[in-house]
Amino acid sequence: MKDVIKIRGNHKLSGEVTVSSCKNSAVAILPAVVLASEVVKLYDVPDIEDIKVLIKLLELLGVEASKKGDCITFDSTNVKNIDLLDDDVKKLRASYYFMGALLGRFKHVKMYSPGGCNLGPRPIDLHLKGFEALGAKISQHGDVIEIDADELIGDEIYLDFASVGATINIMLAACFAKGRTTINNAAKEPEIIDLSSMLNKMGARIRGAGTSEITIDGINRLKGCIHDIIPDRIEAGTYIIAAAAVGNNVKVNNVIPQHIEALTSKLEEMGVIMQIGSDYVKVVGCNDLLATDVKTQPFPGFATDLQQPLTALMCLAKGDSHIEDTIYPERFKHCDELNKMGASIKYHKGSSTIHGGTPLTGSDITARDLRCGAALVIAGLIADGETIIHDAYHIYRGYDSIIEKLRALGADIE
Ligand code: EPZ
Repeated sequence: MKDVIKIRGNHKLSGEVTVSSCKNSAVAILPAVVLASEVVKLYDVPDIEDIKVLIKLLELLGVEASKKGDCITFDSTNVKNIDLLDDDVKKLRASYYFMGALLGRFKHVKMYSPGGCNLGPRPIDLHLKGFEALGAKISQHGDVIEIDADELIGDEIYLDFASVGATINIMLAACFAKGRTTINNAAKEPEIIDLSSMLNKMGARIRGAGTSEITIDGINRLKGCIHDIIPDRIEAGTYIIAAAAVGNNVKVNNVIPQHIEALTSKLEEMGVIMQIGSDYVKVVGCNDLLATDVKTQPFPGFATDLQQPLTALMCLAKGDSHIEDTIYPERFKHCDELNKMGASIKYHKGSSTIHGGTPLTGSDITARDLRCGAALVIAGLIADGETIIHDAYHIYRGYDSIIEKLRALGADIE
C-alpha cells in the first residue's frame, strides 16, 4: 500500500458504505486464541495492518492460521511459549494482550513492552497490578518484560482507572486461575463484551462484562468456537462524521447504534440530520452546522478515538467548539496539521478550541497517529484543492479498505 494518500476535495459523497469488524475487539480476540485447546473460527476479521501483525505473532507461537473466504481458522494445538522478542511486537499496543493470554495459559511470558500510537504516556501499571494480584512476579529489564507465576489464584482487583486494556488483559490471565477473580471499576466498552462472549462460548465463566464489575471463575481448559466479531464503532463514527461534512445522503451499514449514541446525539446537537435504523445510520444532510462542546469519557461516554475526526467537522461549524480529552490529554497532533490547511484551532493541556467557519485548503500534511490520519482524510474531503497526506500507514492500521470505501462514495482519492 502506498504511504501517501491524495484527495481532491470539496465535492459531495453519496451512496452506501459498510463498516468492517471492530479493530479493538479483534486485537484482543486474536491473542485470546492461544488459550484455546481446540480450533477457533473467526468470521469477518478486519483486513488491517494490526491484524496482519498479530497473525504473524500467533504463527511465531506455533498457532496455525488459515483463511478461507471470510473465515480465518486458528489451531492452537501446537502453541509453544516462545519469547516474543520480535520487532513486530512494537508495531502496536495491543500486542500486550499476549501478556495476559500467555500468562493465563503457561504462567510465564517474556516479551517486548508494547508500541502503538504516540498519544502521550501510555503506562501499563494497571495491567501489571492485576497480574500481581493473581500471584504473578514481574521483572522488567529495558524494554523487555518477564512475568512468572507458580500458580494463578483469583483475587479482587480494583482498577484506579476503567482501563480497556487492563480489563481485557486481566480477563485473559484469569481464565485458568484458581477460584474467582473480580475486576472492580472495569471498563465497559463493547469490545470487552465481545471478548467475554467469545471466551464464554469456549467454556470460560465470565459474568458482568459491560458493567463495572466483572467476575471470572477459573476453569481448566477452553474449547474451540465460532465467533463473529462486532462491527467497528469507531470506523462507523468516522464515516458518519465524514458524511456529515461532505455527504449528500450517505448510508453507513453494519452499525450497532447503541455503540455510538454519544456521537450521534452530539451530531444532532450540531444540526446533522440522521435516520438511525437497527443496523445502520443514514446521514440525510445538515442545516448550518452549529459549534458544540465535547468531553471524552470511558464508554458509554464520548469516545476519545472520535474526538480527532470530529475536530475536522467542527472546522465547518459556525462559532467556537471545545474538546476536552480526559483520557489522552496529549491527543492533539491533528490540530497542527489541520491548521496548515487553514483551520483555526488552539490547544493546550488536554483541551482544544476550534474556531469554525474558516475555509480549508488542500495542503501537504502528515498523519501523526491513526485517528489523526482519519481527521486529515475528512479534512481533505472538505478542502478546496488537493490534499496530500504523508505517513498514511497510520491510517491503514485501523481502517479496512478506506480508499476503496471512500471512492465508492464518490471521493476523488488515491
Ligand atoms: C484502548 O486503548 C484502545 N486501543 C484505544 O484506541 C482507545 O483510545 C482507548 O482504549 C480508550 O478507549 C485498543 O483497544 C487496542 P486504556 P488502551 O487502557 O487499552 C491510562 C485507537 O485509536 N492507563 O483505557 O490503551 C492511559 O494512560 C486506539 O483505536 C493507565 O494509566 O486504553 C490512558 O490515559 C488509540 N494505566 C487511559 O488509562 C494503565 O495500566 C486509557 O487507557 C492503562 C491505562
